[in-house]
Amino acid sequence: MNRVPYLGAFAALALTLLSGCNLQHGQPSQGAETPAPSEVLDFKTLYAQNCAGCHGAEGRGGAAIALADPVYLAIADNTAIHKVIANGVHGTSMPAFAQNAGGMLSDKQIDVITSGIRSAWSRPETLNGTNPPSYVATSTGNAHQGEMVFQKYCQSCHGPGGQGGAKGSAITNDSFLALVSDQELRTIVITGRPELGAPDWRGNVPGKPMSDQEITDVVTWLASRRVQNPGQPYTASNYAQH
Ligand code: HEC
Ligand code: HEC
Repeated sequence: MNRVPYLGAFAALALTLLSGCNLQHGQPSQGAETPAPSEVLDFKTLYAQNCAGCHGAEGRGGAAIALADPVYLAIADNTAIHKVIANGVHGTSMPAFAQNAGGMLSDKQIDVITSGIRSAWSRPETLNGTNPPSYVATSTGNAHQGEMVFQKYCQSCHGPGGQGGAKGSAITNDSFLALVSDQELRTIVITGRPELGAPDWRGNVPGKPMSDQEITDVVTWLASRRVQNPGQPYTASNYAQH
């Protein structure tokens, strides 16, 4: 029975070493210990640290759409939201947050954000039983039809050709179209930007909700207005000639 006292002494020493910090400097209060970034699992903290800069405090919108929007949360399911957070949207300012895509968040943290967005901000009852259009386009769009859809539903605010009007900004200029995905255009046509006074798919022409096909067509028309060298007055071939 030689080893028991030895182990006991060792355990006591280990305990002393482990608690040494606290004993020497007094007990820090709980919460004063900052968890490692990868250990934060609180929705509000994760949202504030990673998302609020673009999507606004409390999801109320900023440079990017409001996520605290019941219409948005009625069309986008958790799989879609999780995927965008993990992988970002290539070619836009929406970053990829998953570690395996070069970001800083664990899959568990992305789960917390995804389910937190829904439980904090989803309000299915505000849709009053109206079925919103599909999040993803389910048919091929027709740009020519889309131009007429634009004239019917959008021109009153965004001006002829989408070049800007009294009640809405330019949405066909090359720099805007260069930084926005087709899905985001579709999302905004369905949800509007309620925080900025832009109507959802039901409100462009009061009493005339847009059909799914009209939404698909107007997005196809907007996308067809993209240019190859956004923001540049001259094309690459212009430069080559000089
Ligand atoms: C640097 C700015 C920026 C940050 C930070 C950012 N986003 Fe985004 N986000 C965007 C932009 C811009 C888009 C639109 C991208 C596009 O054109 O598809 C977007 C799109 C999205 C979408 C998809 C919207 C749709 O149409 O379905 C979701 C969901 C989203 N962001 C969630 C988040 C969450 C959650 C965070 C934090 C973990 C976050 N974003 C951080 C800029 C940002
Ligand atoms: C009643 C006026 C009104 C109507 C009708 C309207 N919008 Fe808007 N729209 C706005 C306002 C206001 C904003 C937010 C501020 C801004 O960008 O002008 C906006 C924003 C947008 C944006 C985002 C612009 C950005 O800079 O982020 C897009 C895209 C858009 N609208 C497309 C459309 C399309 C397509 C239609 C027709 C299907 C439409 N809008 C109908 C008023 C309107």
